Parts: sequence; C-alpha cells; structure tokens
Amino acid sequence: MAKKTIQDVDVTGKRVLVRVDFNVPQDENGNITDDTRIRAALPTIQYLVDHAARAILVSHLGRPKGVDEKLRVDPVAARLQELLGRPVRKASDVIGPAVAQQAAALKEGDVLLLENVRFYKEEEKNDPEFARQLASLADLYVNDAFGTAHRAHASTEGVAHLLPAVAGFLMGKEIEYLGRALANPERPFVAVLGGAKVADKIGVIENLLGKVDSLLIGGAMAFTFIKAQGGEIGKTLLDADSLDVARETLEKAKARGVQLILPTDALAADRIDASANTRVVPAGQIPDGWAAVDIGPEAARQFAAVVSGAKTVVWNGPMGIFEVPPFAEGTRVVARALAEANALTIVGGGDSVAAIEELGVADRISHVSTGGGASLEFLEGKVLPGIAALEEK
Ligand code: 3PG
Repeated sequence: MAKKTIQDVDVTGKRVLVRVDFNVPQDENGNITDDTRIRAALPTIQYLVDHAARAILVSHLGRPKGVDEKLRVDPVAARLQELLGRPVRKASDVIGPAVAQQAAALKEGDVLLLENVRFYKEEEKNDPEFARQLASLADLYVNDAFGTAHRAHASTEGVAHLLPAVAGFLMGKEIEYLGRALANPERPFVAVLGGAKVADKIGVIENLLGKVDSLLIGGAMAFTFIKAQGGEIGKTLLDADSLDVARETLEKAKARGVQLILPTDALAADRIDASANTRVVPAGQIPDGWAAVDIGPEAARQFAAVVSGAKTVVWNGPMGIFEVPPFAEGTRVVARALAEANALTIVGGGDSVAAIEELGVADRISHVSTGGGASLEFLEGKVLPGIAALEEK
C-alpha cells in the first residue's frame, strides 16, 4: 500500500485542494474542546506554505442536513490561524463562482478554508458534478483526512479521480503505523480491545485473530464472552445477539493458537453512578442486580503484564465505563502499561485516546490515531476508499 505522498510531487505555486478532517468536538457555544485533529494536519499545511503552494482546505464538521449555522467552520479557521501563526481565509461556501474567485486570487503561501463540505448533500452521495466543481478549484489533491478515509464521499474519494491525488503527512503516518502493525508486526503482537458491544468489534477481532499472539478483551463486551462460557454477569450490558459469535471466536482463537484473555475479576457496581456501591468479584460471578463496570485489579495486572512483554501493541476501546471516574482504573492501568512498554504502541478510538491524554502519556505512545471509525475499519482489514483512490508510488 505504498501511496504517493505530498513529497513525491511538486507543489510549488500549485493550487492544492487538501481534504482535512477538522471534525472536532465543540461545546454548546461553539468553542473547540479538542483541537488534536487540527494540530495533526499542521505538518501538511506548513509544508505547503513553506513550498509556496496555495492551500485550499476542505473538511466536514458534524453531520449537518443542509446548511446549519452551528456547524460553520469559522471557529476551526480561527483556531488553525492561531496554531499556524499566519492568516487563514475562510470562504463562505464550498463551491460556486465566489469561491472559485477566492481560490484563483490566492497568492503563494496563502491558506483558504472552505465552508463545511457536508452543507451539500452531494458530498456524501459522492456526486460526480459536485466532485468536479471541487476539483476545478485546484491543480492537485492531497488527502490528509485519515479520520474520514472510510467514507467514499466526493471530497474524500470522487475528487481523487479528477486530479493528481496524493497522501498528506498525517495520512502517510497513519497508513505507515497501522499498516506496519498489521503487515509486519514485531512479536509478540498484542491487541487490547474494549468497548460495549461485540458486534461493533467483531470485524476487528476476526482480522486480528489471524495476526496477533494475544488478544486481551475488556469492557462490557468481555462479559458477553463470559456469559457465552456460562458465567453469571448480573445486569451487565449483554450483547445477546453476539453470544454465538463469541463462542465461535473463543474456538477460533484456540484453533489458531492465539491466547484470548478475558478478565478474571471485575469491579461490580449496583448502579452506573460515581456514588454507587462497588465490589471486586470474580468476572463470572457478578451478583444479581449488579453490573460489571470495569475489569478488576487482578485482570488489570494481568493485562498490563501481557502488554509489558509485547513488541507491538494495538489498543482500541476502554476497559470499563471510563467516563465515570471510579470505574476508570482498569483503563488507566492499561494506558500506563502501553506508555511504559518497550514496543511499537498504537492507540485508536475516542475513549482510549482520552485515557492516554488524561494520564498525560500520549507522547509516550508511538502513534495515537486520529481515526475512530477509520482506524477500526483499517484494523478490520478493509480497504478504505479515501486511501484506495490515491496514486500508487
Ligand atoms: C469521525 O469523527 O470519525 C470522522 O470525522 C468521520 O465522521 P463521520 O462518522 O460523521 O463520517
């Protein structure tokens, strides 16, 4: 999957349409609460500025149905301008004569951010005429929006067929790290998966079972496996439709010689609330009326030990109900183990990323993916349309 990158083409003087993923969280007043994705795109934007290109950035923000005043990208333009330390112009539309004029007027080193591309329904439909209008603004297309690479939309896929199309630095880095872990991992290769439902992660589990040495499963989904083995899980969230899949997965792991490790103990709570009564119990003996809300201390120690011995670790999904502070310890222990591991470590997914950021250890992780859905689909072994459409080296 060697894709051409921005360094393989001449950008000087060119009008470059850059698909970025500036889909950042905002509070009710429109303030950006996490600008990681904007920061992550800076190397590409700075490179274009330094090489006297004319950068035309385009992103979606949220899931608007038509024009939505709350989802205009002005706050993003303002933050980008601060981070970049140079003016960022903001177009009032995505396509059309006024935008074409603004794009044409750009000088070398200028940066223009188009309006929220999802204000047009044609974007998600990957409408060819809409893609053509976007493409007409530029000479070259750079996709740096790894977080949206699993969507075959006009600005992520359609336009790549109409202009020379290459990967930006962030896209390149995501492909490199995730690709290296899947294709050529140094062993032992350990995956840690958490989250609520088996169904959401089964594609990843199946793909990883063919690649990893150990698979650690935490989060509520672990208790669907424990139920499938005959354990008592009280009122823990059960993914009842996945019980058969869980049984089959346990058998497949055995047949393939993969160590599939479920928590041996759990933190059980009588309510999902920070003030709930809690006790540590064996994972298959959650009392009636109680729910497992985190992996237990013994399981956390075991998970950490397996991670410590690994050479490659991929982590996606929290070990418990991380957003309730007393139920976050298992997730924290795993986060710390990754930070301390002498291994290539890759973290994806909102909650696991939040855990490593809260602990202040993000800089000790080899690669923190900016993709939620996209990193999951990548780990499932799926071809991401936004990547597939880029030119091969
Ligand atoms: C994300 O936040 O995962 C990406 O920006 C994709 O957004 P979407 O799920 O609305 O397509």
